[in-house]
Amino acid sequence: MKKRVGIFYGPAGGSTERVAKKIQIAFGEDVADLIPIKNCTAADINKYENVVFGCSTIGKETWQSDKSKPDWDNFRSELDKIKYEGKTFALFGLGDHIAYAAMFVDAMGILAKEMLKHNASIIGKVPTCEYEFKESEAVFGHEFIGLPIDEDFEADLTDRRVKEWVARLKMNFA
Ligand SMILES: Cc1cc2nc3c(=O)[nH]c(=O)nc-3n(C[C@H](O)[C@H](O)[C@H](O)COP(=O)(O)O)c2cc1C
Repeated sequence: MKKRVGIFYGPAGGSTERVAKKIQIAFGEDVADLIPIKNCTAADINKYENVVFGCSTIGKETWQSDKSKPDWDNFRSELDKIKYEGKTFALFGLGDHIAYAAMFVDAMGILAKEMLKHNASIIGKVPTCEYEFKESEAVFGHEFIGLPIDEDFEADLTDRRVKEWVARLKMNFA
């Protein structure tokens, strides 16, 4: 990996932000920038060739939910303006595999589906066998489209999950 990494995350101030910070440290603070997605436009993303997106799932219809913080909702229309060609993306998603087993990290899948409409190149998929859950919009084949993190019930696994995932990304980012 020679190019800088932009880690864009939302919502700010909770578990997603805490995990985003861990991901930045795993890359190295000198090579990875940590940026809240709130107030970003596509132009902010377009500065990077290596992009990490992080989100949490709050409610089934995350984009429109009254309960969700609006950070990613506000950015949604910007997704169409990103210059996808030549970029490599990786996603992580916060969720709760006990209380929301049937919609585990759904928002990560909803975000990925929007990006795949533009033929986004997404790396960092994770085998579903490493998690217990019932259903998820983030499953594509036998893999999660990105890294699921459960800070509510599996916080003890987060550091190892982040470390192993970032090590793989480093080998495949530009
Ligand atoms: C109202 C509410 C709804 C939630 N819905 C889901 C869900 O549908 N799927 C899921 O995996 N997690 C769900 N969660 C769990 C959150 O994604 C999890 O607690 C996450 O760590 C929150 O991250 P944040 O503090 O950055 O928002 C929900 C949590 C709350 C409070």
